[in-house]
Amino acid sequence: MSHIVSPDLVKDRIERLPLLSATASALLQLLQREQYSQAEVVRLVETDAALTTCILKVVNAPSFGLGQQVHSVARAVSFLGDKLVTAIALGNCAHQVYNHALGGYEGSAGQLWEHSLATAIAAREFARLMTPPVPLGLAFTAGIVHDIGKSVLSEFLEGRSQSLLETLDAQEIEDFALAEAQALGTDHARLGALLARRWQLPEPLVQAIAYHHTPSRAAPPWQGLCCAVHLGDALAMCLGLDTGCDALQYGLDDLTCATPDLSPAVMDVLVFTVHHEFQKTRTMFFG
Ligand SMILES: [Fe+2]
Ligand SMILES: [Fe+2]
Repeated sequence: MSHIVSPDLVKDRIERLPLLSATASALLQLLQREQYSQAEVVRLVETDAALTTCILKVVNAPSFGLGQQVHSVARAVSFLGDKLVTAIALGNCAHQVYNHALGGYEGSAGQLWEHSLATAIAAREFARLMTPPVPLGLAFTAGIVHDIGKSVLSEFLEGRSQSLLETLDAQEIEDFALAEAQALGTDHARLGALLARRWQLPEPLVQAIAYHHTPSRAAPPWQGLCCAVHLGDALAMCLGLDTGCDALQYGLDDLTCATPDLSPAVMDVLVFTVHHEFQKTRTMFFG
């Protein structure tokens, strides 16, 4: 019996997901520019009442530890930083994507959000090591959005994940994304890129989503970015911040292994930084 998912069904599911808010979209566009000012970020946030409320709530939460009330968006943005504001905009506006349980991956609610945040922080750290340089803000945002395809594919994986894992165990196939493609006719990276195009995300983000498991196949200008996300994704999974049954079921792309200097000393510092940053940010959100 064929389990191949019909492209029409996929299209239907993608169209049913909410569109990214105009503010989140504009923030993503802004952050991928070489130069922008914090005033531009503030102006965008101020036009969005829901986002303004959310940001003020985060910055005034006891877990943020400011010990003073913040009432202005400008001050809130300066405390949080542009990247975190964008992460909040995405997590807030697209909560249907990030916060529902990924049943097909045997993941719980919120797990995709935590994995995405850890990948974003790690991708930013790997981006610092890339030659030619990869913009840090872009690497962070790409990390946040890299697995959005799972929110669509999860439904089609329901009840099938164990048989996919068995094909991996039997070494018939070496990568969970390949197992998805073999069983369903598509994988979460491909679906994510479709969703990203519907959301009109900037091209580098579409590339990072499409090729986060296979950076050597990305268009040359975006290979460094895709490598940073690829490594960030792997590190997030090594730290136990995964999305469920596909944890550590992906290979490392040869191009990625060859790119940055990943000596044990460099990795030690990197793991510590990512773990520390992640805990700090999670506490900010959830107390
Ligand atoms: Fe992935
Ligand atoms: Fe991932």
